[in-house]
Amino acid sequence: MFKKILLVLLVIFLVMQAFRPEKNVSGQKNNAIATLYPVPDNVNQILVKACNDCHSNTTVYPWYAEIQPVAWWLDDHVKDGKKHLNFDEFATYRLAKQFHKLEEVFDEVKGGEMPLESYTVVHRDAKLTTEEKNILLDWSTAVRDTMKARYPADSLIMKKKK
Ligand code: HEC
Repeated sequence: MFKKILLVLLVIFLVMQAFRPEKNVSGQKNNAIATLYPVPDNVNQILVKACNDCHSNTTVYPWYAEIQPVAWWLDDHVKDGKKHLNFDEFATYRLAKQFHKLEEVFDEVKGGEMPLESYTVVHRDAKLTTEEKNILLDWSTAVRDTMKARYPADSLIMKKKK
């Protein structure tokens, strides 16, 4: 009996391997945030190592991303993360949304909510030091200041509908 259950589980596991989510590797950067606002190297390095796996068009996949159901779980995070914020599609957002997302970057980093803990457990170097946090905080503030100087104030206010 026990052997049969194991066998069934094994078959299920093997069948699962055939269903692979599409990878987030288009690398498309035409609408990247850097096309609109300065992203200094030190900021970019932090975004690449700590944020872009879930908030850009390029995810660097670990080897275990080849295994189901791990890949589905990762795919969920990437899809969800990109839906909320994609630095590589930033230029497609309305001004108010851009401004708001930068505010959220500030809040999430300051509050230590991002990167997700389930991510830093594995990607140890993505855990931000105080210095790295400050670099991101200062940058998101600087970009918002640039926006304030460049655009009329009411274009930066989120209307009711998101
Ligand atoms: C492992 C994937 C992952 C990583 C890495 C990650 N995020 Fe996220 N992020 C998400 C997910 C999923 C959400 C949406 C759900 C939530 O808010 O928890 C999110 C939400 C956000 C939001 C909120 C957007 C909104 O609309 O509420 C911001 C801002 C954000 N992330 C910024 C960052 C920054 C900055 C980094 C790097 C320092 C980062 N994230 C790293 C997965 C990730």
